[in-house]
Amino acid sequence: MSIEKIVKALNQDLALEIAAALQYLHHHWTGEGYDSPAVLELFEKIARDEMKHMEMLAERINYLGGDPTLAPAEIKKGGDLHKMMKDDLDGENMAIKQYKVHIKLFDELGDPTSRLMMEKILSDEERHADIWETTLGIKK
Ligand SMILES: [Fe+2]
Ligand SMILES: [Fe+2]
Repeated sequence: MSIEKIVKALNQDLALEIAAALQYLHHHWTGEGYDSPAVLELFEKIARDEMKHMEMLAERINYLGGDPTLAPAEIKKGGDLHKMMKDDLDGENMAIKQYKVHIKLFDELGDPTSRLMMEKILSDEERHADIWETTLGIKK
């Protein structure tokens, strides 16, 4: 059934969002460094975006008759501020890759609502990735 495929993919996305929210929050709580205030604030701000994504996904899954997962994907914690930002950038890039695949899938399965929702979330993740690329001085 295509609904099952949609719910499965949305739950994979929700697991990434739960992990992202928790990872950003943990980085916000534990990050230290001479230039940390601005970065620590960013961790908290982005955690709030990820929590909004969690909510959008959970509500969509529930609407489709599925059970929103509570299990996060892999969470990376610890290290200095540079490692934290690098881990967060990796997480954003992983989400961007997965969401692009799922946007195509939802289109194929005839679910424009899930597709549009993931396009909105994808644009947030691209903005987050851009913040870390800029902060880390990484060129595309
Ligand atoms: Fe997100
Ligand atoms: Fe993000």
